[in-house]
Formats: sequence, structure tokens, C-alpha cells
Amino acid sequence: MWFETLIREETGCATYMIGCQRTGDCMVFDPLWDIQPYLKMAKKKKSKIKYVIDSHSHADQISGARRLAEETGAELMLPELAEISYEATRLKGGDEIRMGGVGLRVFHAPGHRPEQINLLVIDYPRGEEPWAMLTADFVMVGDVARPDLAQGGESGADQLFNDSIPRFLELPDHVEVYPGHLAGST
Ligand SMILES: [Fe+2]
Repeated sequence: MWFETLIREETGCATYMIGCQRTGDCMVFDPLWDIQPYLKMAKKKKSKIKYVIDSHSHADQISGARRLAEETGAELMLPELAEISYEATRLKGGDEIRMGGVGLRVFHAPGHRPEQINLLVIDYPRGEEPWAMLTADFVMVGDVARPDLAQGGESGADQLFNDSIPRFLELPDHVEVYPGHLAGST
């Protein structure tokens, strides 16, 4: 598998691309409005963008998911609970996307937003267990996301601390965290 982090320096937003060399397919997670970096990376990797996934309905950035999917013919995927008015394949906790030896297992973690999903990354030739999680706006390095963006902020906090984080903490310590916001974000 290959794994790339694409960062928009101005805001500290991080996007991830994961692909399988064997099948020549890849996936983009939480693309920003400017889709050129993803097209360039796919070309560099000689890979076809097969899936475009948004982790949640973003309030702090403009998603480029729809235009990237339209441009590339990729399948657009969003959480089953996302309130959207356009067509997309829906993802729920436990679903798994496969691209050759790459597995992307959906981990639903309500709190920041009720629909928030994250992806556990599995490199099957390496092992059956996930080695990383794309945590989007769920868990940052040393912090958790704000839970007040959904209607009823208190219930967001309740879900985060009583459901999502306890399940997250059950994951093995070796699972690496790749959040949607890095240093420099506002
Ligand atoms: Fe967010």
C-alpha cells in the first residue's frame, strides 16, 4: 500500500490518500476545495482515484469531495447519518472498503458531528489488524474535537466521552493517529 498526507499550510488541514500498487486504485479522505493536489498525486503514483470519502459535513472547510468525484468518476461516499441533498454511497460503522491488499474499515464516532466517521487502515500483507486510523475531526494529537457543532452540543459531548472515546481507547496502542487538523489550524 501507499499512504500520503497532503496538507494545506494556510489552515493546517490534512487530507489523506491511500492506494494499492497492485490494483492501481486509491482513495481520498476529506479532500479540500482545491482538487489539483489530489489529481497530481494520483498521477505521480500512477493510480486511479476510485473512492472519495467525506468524514462528516464540514463546518470549518469547503469540501472538494463532490467536484473531485465528478472530475475522476470516483465513487462518492459519506456517512449514513450525513444530512445531504445529493447522491452518495453511505457508510456505517463496521463497513470495509477493499482495494487489493488495503482495507479501510469504518469507525463511527459521533460527538464532533453525529455522523462523523473515521477509517481504520489495514495493510493485509502486513497483518490483519489496523495499523492506523484517519481520525478526521474526532481525535487530534493530544486533544479531541469540539462537540458543539451539532444541534444539541451537550449530547455531542455526551456521545464523545461516553461512547466514541471509550471505543477508541480499546484499540491497540500501536494504532497511529492521523487527524484532519495539524499545527497551524484555527
Ligand atoms: Fe469538522
